[in-house]
Amino acid sequence: MKIAVIGTGYVGLVTATCLAESGNEVVGVDKDAGKIATLKSGKIPIYEPGLLELVLRNTKELRLSFGTDLAAAAKDAQLIFIAVGTPELPDGQADLSAIWAVGDLLAECMRADAVVVIKSTVSVGTNRKLMERMSAKAGRPIEVASNPEFLKEGAAIDDFMKPDRVVVGVRRPEVADKLRELYSSFLRTEHPFLVMSPESAEMTKYVANAMLATKISFINEQANLCEKLGADINDVRRGIGHDQRIGFQFLFPGPGYGGSCFPKDVKNLISIAQAAGVPVDLLRSVDQVNDRQKHVLPNKVRTHYGKDLKGKCLAVWGLAFKPRTDDVREAPALTLIEEMLKEGVQLRVHDPEAEANVRAIFGDKLTYCGRPYSTLEGADGLAIVTEWPEFRHPDFEVMRRLMRTPVIFDGRNLFEPKMVKASGFIYYAIGRLTE
Ligand SMILES: NC(=O)c1ccc[n+]([C@@H]2O[C@H](COP(=O)([O-])OP(=O)(O)OC[C@H]3O[C@@H](n4cnc5c(N)ncnc54)[C@H](O)[C@@H]3O)[C@@H](O)[C@H]2O)c1
Repeated sequence: MKIAVIGTGYVGLVTATCLAESGNEVVGVDKDAGKIATLKSGKIPIYEPGLLELVLRNTKELRLSFGTDLAAAAKDAQLIFIAVGTPELPDGQADLSAIWAVGDLLAECMRADAVVVIKSTVSVGTNRKLMERMSAKAGRPIEVASNPEFLKEGAAIDDFMKPDRVVVGVRRPEVADKLRELYSSFLRTEHPFLVMSPESAEMTKYVANAMLATKISFINEQANLCEKLGADINDVRRGIGHDQRIGFQFLFPGPGYGGSCFPKDVKNLISIAQAAGVPVDLLRSVDQVNDRQKHVLPNKVRTHYGKDLKGKCLAVWGLAFKPRTDDVREAPALTLIEEMLKEGVQLRVHDPEAEANVRAIFGDKLTYCGRPYSTLEGADGLAIVTEWPEFRHPDFEVMRRLMRTPVIFDGRNLFEPKMVKASGFIYYAIGRLTE
């Protein structure tokens, strides 16, 4: 099939590449000429495990190409995926301006029988509005489907190639058939292809992210409570997880959720509900608990050093909002860094992939260390914010020699408190018994 994917960010680039990998002829389009130049030069503008190899193979085999000319890409395409960004506006709504801009251009240049597929996360009702707007502009009916994306950064290729489920929102069964055919190669293990209305598909994406965010805020709140009551959240987590109605998934306490999806999608859904006049107190709490949680780690640092924070040197391991990505959007590490800079703390930071993105925000206010151990040189403490696998089994003896004072503020509960303390460290974790 001939396919155009508009937007070559985390979602668009993975979508374009995986669709090319399954034999389609795909053009990825972006308005960012720098991104397209990078892609054309055989590099990728983001870090995503396994993606570069797939991009190179499919461009070499001429199934995948990139450009900035939307009209040229859309002219022959049978399916046109829209994967542009839908960032949060100050009032919590999704900024849909890129969706409308792309729709207006497409209405004038796409084939009469092509189907537009919205992959971006958009407010409920956007599909209908886009269909009406494009049809009016084109002077003929235009088919718009919704196909929300559930991939996780860091595991995006696997998630796209072996999805738990594919959700499509359509008005006509023929459109569902076209998309079923496209996805058939990814659903060979009988995972479901779910057909519903565009509104239900749009809502499914928000409800999925709201549920996951709720789990995180729930366990974080309980972890904070455990800490005050002398209980250990890790024991409690195991104590509840064996109940099959609860399970273990996504119930790990931490420094708050970040990324380009959960924070914005929860806020979007709150604003959607507000416009609909439906109270969503639970969602508001999920959002508030998360905002508060991002201050838990900085507060532990403050409590430990008291008034003596100015001039201290803090090492930070992990800047990306999660491991295996370079994405730092809404990352809890940014809150820690901002708060520590305000207090006059010197920061030595390290992340295997995200240092360049953090440098773009903080410039030379931080010392970028390139390696985990060099980050510790002369540090008065170490804060762990992202659970990259390489942080899990450090040599505590080496760490202690490098650091000025052996203190660890572990935002991801990576270590057994007894073992860290036996290695000579003062250890703080989230909701664990560390005394
Ligand atoms: N990142 C994720 O993990 C994830 C997962 C599921 C869904 N989503 C949703 O997918 C959408 C894209 O997210 P992302 O993380 O890939 O965003 P991103 O910011 O990484 O990429 C968006 C891309 O769209 C391009 N763009 C914007 N306006 C354009 C236009 N008019 N014409 C052509 N290109 C244009 C931008 O230059 C950018 O490269 C969002 O709605 C997001 O909520 C993201």
